[in-house]
Amino acid sequence: MLEIINNQYKELSAFKMTAVISNEINIEWGDLFSRLISKSTKTIVFIDPVVHSLHMDRFNQIVEINDLVQVIPTKINESTKSLESLVSVLERFENLSVGRRDDFIYAVGGGALLDLVSLAANLYRRGVSVIKVPTTLLACVDASIGIKTGINFMNRRNRLGSYYLNYSVLLETQLLTSLGKSLIREGLGEIFKIAVIKSVELFNLLESNKINLLNSEFYNSPNGQKIIALSIKLMLEELHDNPTETILKRCVDFGHSFSPLVEMYSIEKDGVEAIPHGIAVGNDCVITSIISNNRGSLSTRDLERIVELAEYIDFRKNHYLHQSAEVMWSSFADMTKHRGGKQNLPIPTSIGTYDFIQDLKYSELELAISQNIK
Ligand SMILES: NC(=O)c1ccc[n+]([C@@H]2O[C@H](COP(=O)([O-])OP(=O)(O)OC[C@H]3O[C@@H](n4cnc5c(N)ncnc54)[C@H](O)[C@@H]3O)[C@@H](O)[C@H]2O)c1
Repeated sequence: MLEIINNQYKELSAFKMTAVISNEINIEWGDLFSRLISKSTKTIVFIDPVVHSLHMDRFNQIVEINDLVQVIPTKINESTKSLESLVSVLERFENLSVGRRDDFIYAVGGGALLDLVSLAANLYRRGVSVIKVPTTLLACVDASIGIKTGINFMNRRNRLGSYYLNYSVLLETQLLTSLGKSLIREGLGEIFKIAVIKSVELFNLLESNKINLLNSEFYNSPNGQKIIALSIKLMLEELHDNPTETILKRCVDFGHSFSPLVEMYSIEKDGVEAIPHGIAVGNDCVITSIISNNRGSLSTRDLERIVELAEYIDFRKNHYLHQSAEVMWSSFADMTKHRGGKQNLPIPTSIGTYDFIQDLKYSELELAISQNIK
């Protein structure tokens, strides 16, 4: 159980974290199955149906042994991360008479399921506690550890949501071993981002394990777990003083400046190959690193290492939207608005260190894009 998160958030007052993150976050890797077998109060498990079917025998066994545990396969993806699904999860809570204090809600799945079930837990009886068990790499290093909940509403992503502190995270890396390469790459987008901008230690780890990075079994091994643990620690450091994102100058926005519209257009336009979030982020990290190198802020050796690793993970897809300065610039204009009218563009100044720039010009972006074309 990643108790540190709960302890840390317990010390929050008015959403302001006062606890100090210790240098070593001690992650205890979980065993969901043995935990569920030994539960002595009512426990309701909302679980991704794919994960459920992959471990059907074990879940059936748990339910047979412990009749306090109910397992409810619940399909939540981007299109069902909706008000209707939220209501049906809340109806389940009500029909099962979930108690305010002693009963347990488990959310076992990817980021979409965790976001929705956590929001339901936040709303029900002004808040029942939820244990998040991420089953995708992205959910492990990002969606499960923050305090944001959410659902999509009127075609807007995460338009309804909340900040909710009453949760724990159980990291059960055995559940990651069934992920395909594309879902692994989704998580690697965020891991690569935080390594380049904030941690040479993590970057070195990624480099030295690069042949295994797209292999899901790797994340259930000590080195894979080390990568997950370090990514979480780095992310928590960023959330620590800014959990509700009131500060708009955030290094974790690296990779999220030029890519949002690229990703959205690729999904919305008919006949256009979709660019997944992880790839859009990875490619944005490379373009931003090129901009930094062109300004003389990042060494060519560091840029080469960044590009090489991005190439290895396959972030640098040839796609016409990755070559469109116009789309990327309008994305950047949107993000500038979102950041209170300031560019606040994080750029790496070496692997693991960063600065912000406020005066990026269109011509610089255009040049970097042309240099990024393979
Ligand atoms: N709250 C936050 O801070 C935060 C942060 C980042 C992302 N998010 C949200 O996370 C969502 C994306 O999460 P995601 O990338 O995990 O995708 P997802 O939740 O949409 O899941 C993608 C797919 O993975 C499958 N899956 C899940 N676990 C699996 C496993 N172990 N093996 C095989 N298949 C498995 C699911 O069936 C699903 O079809 C978005 O909705 C995003 O808004 C939230």
